[in-house]
Amino acid sequence: MTKELEGIVALVTGATRGIGLATAKKLGRSGARIVISDLSSEQSETTKKALSELENENIRCDFFQCDVRKYSEVERMICEIERNIGNISVLINNAGIPQATKPLWEMSIEEWENVIKTNLDSVFYCMKLVLPKMIERNYGRIVTLSSISGKEGNAREAAYCATKHGVLGLTKSVAKEVLDYNIRINAVCPALINTPLLESLPQSQIDYFTRKIPLGRLGKAEEVADLVKFLVCSEAVNFITGMAFDISGGRADY
Ligand SMILES: NC(=O)c1ccc[n+]([C@@H]2O[C@H](COP(=O)([O-])OP(=O)(O)OC[C@H]3O[C@@H](n4cnc5c(N)ncnc54)[C@H](O)[C@@H]3O)[C@@H](O)[C@H]2O)c1
Repeated sequence: MTKELEGIVALVTGATRGIGLATAKKLGRSGARIVISDLSSEQSETTKKALSELENENIRCDFFQCDVRKYSEVERMICEIERNIGNISVLINNAGIPQATKPLWEMSIEEWENVIKTNLDSVFYCMKLVLPKMIERNYGRIVTLSSISGKEGNAREAAYCATKHGVLGLTKSVAKEVLDYNIRINAVCPALINTPLLESLPQSQIDYFTRKIPLGRLGKAEEVADLVKFLVCSEAVNFITGMAFDISGGRADY
């Protein structure tokens, strides 16, 4: 039986763990040829573990070490993928970092720029580089990881919230630029999800944000990955673009 993404190359950034890895697995199980990228090297334990988990499921996967904050690295990676692996038809803008929790006025310029470059500039870079080929081939699916912080402001997380609002602006605008090319661009907005990202947050913050979730628990990476997969594979997506999909256990009821 042919799988829905057979013959499709899908690039997932920041995908050696967490939501990115769960998404790579879901898309791979649907037949996509997967490319994962991350800051970590091919020799790092996290990358080796991710690659062996994908291999154990017979998912065809390549890895690129790439810092998405740097346009030249993203450009090199995308050129190499297009030349040696195949045309990128699916892009998942997943790489992202939280910020150190603090009031705006205590944030250094370097901290601000790091969050903006990682979470927002990177999405511009990846979309800028994959879209011309998608337009040429009249097909593409792009999903970007925003956050509940892309819908609400959180005190002492201004930079993170600004980037997650920013990627929604990109999603809504660029989606309308490519309507005629069978390219659909959407975003997902998770509340707190149980991934290694949480290790960098204070427990008090995790408890506070968990209490805000009506379902009373953290989300799972696999649940977010299922939503991303829907936004890549479903026939319904022919008629869905420029949207921000909530996955917050009932927290955002708008
Ligand atoms: N976990 C949550 O609660 C949550 C909630 C809402 C949104 N998100 C978003 O979902 C995405 C994935 O989050 P996660 O929880 O899986 O995080 P994670 O920290 O587990 O994984 C993120 C991955 O991105 C990589 N990365 C970071 N900076 C990078 C860079 N400059 N270049 C390349 N790779 C880089 C990391 O090495 C890591 O492997 C992020 O964009 C995050 O903001 C997460």
